[in-house]
Amino acid sequence: TKVAFIGSGKIGQTIAFNVIMGSYIDEAIIYDIIPELPEKFEHELRHALASRKLKVEVLGTNNIEDVNGADIVVISAGKPRKPGMSRRDLFVDNARIMIDLADKLAKRNRGALYIMVANPVDMMASVFMKYSGEYTISTGDQVETMRMRSYIAKKLKVHVTDVNGYVGGEHGEDAVVLWSTVTVKGKPFDESMGVSKHEVEEYVKKIPGEIIRVMGGTTWGPGTIIEEIIRAVVLNENKVMSIAFPHKYEDEIIHISEPVVVGRTIGPSLEPLLDEKDRWHLMASIKDFYSVYKENLKQLEQSL
Ligand code: NAD
Ligand code: MLT
Repeated sequence: TKVAFIGSGKIGQTIAFNVIMGSYIDEAIIYDIIPELPEKFEHELRHALASRKLKVEVLGTNNIEDVNGADIVVISAGKPRKPGMSRRDLFVDNARIMIDLADKLAKRNRGALYIMVANPVDMMASVFMKYSGEYTISTGDQVETMRMRSYIAKKLKVHVTDVNGYVGGEHGEDAVVLWSTVTVKGKPFDESMGVSKHEVEEYVKKIPGEIIRVMGGTTWGPGTIIEEIIRAVVLNENKVMSIAFPHKYEDEIIHISEPVVVGRTIGPSLEPLLDEKDRWHLMASIKDFYSVYKENLKQLEQSL
């Protein structure tokens, strides 16, 4: 399997490092526009592989023509938000990058699975898919899902594998905990267990902003979680994860997260198994996404 990593900034490096050290792919291509960055990162990775006695072919390059024939293309190229900003504020700047990449990558990597990481991640997946015509998924709310599980486990002093369940909707402030899926030691979540829903929801929404304020960006959490998504695809693990995949809505393809089986193909979705309330929340997310997305597309087209 050949995987291309487009963007080798903070999150791109963390994801690439985790995937390459996992040693389940044959080849990695690392691309960025910053001169020498991918090439020097390639050296670092080779040194790490030597220490672990692993063999993965790695190429770091500033030449987009080297990015060809990939099975999976992971896109983290783009601006990150600064403290106080919403991810949606990045729409126009990062969508311009996606339109440029859609043109350059699609013809060289036809039929690859494109995995969007750059924010606002779900909208960037929709933009990339619209302009490239290639099947694109977004890492979506698998990140929120792990934040939710980790927080409940910490508060209730249980092992994290005793907590199950998913967060869905749009990645970011509007993500919704799908409470009908949440269980602790196999029992449906109940506030009497020792933590309120509100507290969990606030944590999931606010913690990334706090990490960005102090550490300059989120890396280790999403870098590990996104590696697991890539591994599920490469190894055809058919794991249930909350990622955003294409949904046809009105005249657009949009990306919203819900629990879905992730392997070499994406689906089926577990949405029909959710309760009324959670399904209603997901539907509301889709509507909200659509109206904001259409407005943003209008602004983008005016700026082109
Ligand atoms: P960063 O500034 O460290 O890295 C971004 C990289 O993209 C830079 O190296 C830059 O040179 C490169 N780049 C810009 N335009 C490019 C182009 N046209 N082609 C190739 N490379 C290009 O930022 P970061 O912290 O790595 O974050 C990158 C993006 O990922 C941001 O949008 C951020 O919000 C997002 N992010 C998403 C998640 C998630 O869970 N989905 C997690 C962390 C970060
Ligand atoms: C995250 O959730 O860690 C990413 O979307 C980065 C961000 O918060 O901007």
